[in-house]
Amino acid sequence: MAAASALHQQAPTAGAQEQSGEVIRGKSVVTLDVNGVKRKVSVEPRTTLLETLRYQLDLTGAKPVSGDGSSGASTVLVDGKPVMASTTLTITCHNKSITTAEGLSDDPIPAAFVRHDAQQCGFCTPGFVVAIKAFLQKHPNATEDEIRKSLNGNICRCGTYANIIDAVVDLAKGGANG
Ligand code: FES
Repeated sequence: MAAASALHQQAPTAGAQEQSGEVIRGKSVVTLDVNGVKRKVSVEPRTTLLETLRYQLDLTGAKPVSGDGSSGASTVLVDGKPVMASTTLTITCHNKSITTAEGLSDDPIPAAFVRHDAQQCGFCTPGFVVAIKAFLQKHPNATEDEIRKSLNGNICRCGTYANIIDAVVDLAKGGANG
């Protein structure tokens, strides 16, 4: 029981679990810094970050689509790096910074999407916005070719790619201080 209660105080990482051979059972309390706000959640070892964001924290920007991360719809930033929340376990994010599309509402990217009419149903849009944020942070002056290559992990079933690319090209050229 002592070991179980220790798990509730500090969430182990998946890597630590592999090294110790310890099997994590039951719920662990995990602390996440979500869009700049510290949140504590109680999760099972199998709980994905996407489930935690959507069903515990009511942040529904990241979407469940493929389940294996191949659509890019669940893209979020963990410590500034883009990951698929659908394939990331919440316990591996203990004390990490999570940025979702909701945390980018004042960023120039959503405004560029509006200017360029870069969404139809909008289901893919949060994943694109987060992926673009990560890309432009590393490549603020990217060329159109580089932008096209960088977004090949995000799928838009409405086929709005041309306008999405236009929006990102605009941002890379400094459009609206992008
Ligand atoms: S705008 Fe509908 S899936 Fe992209």
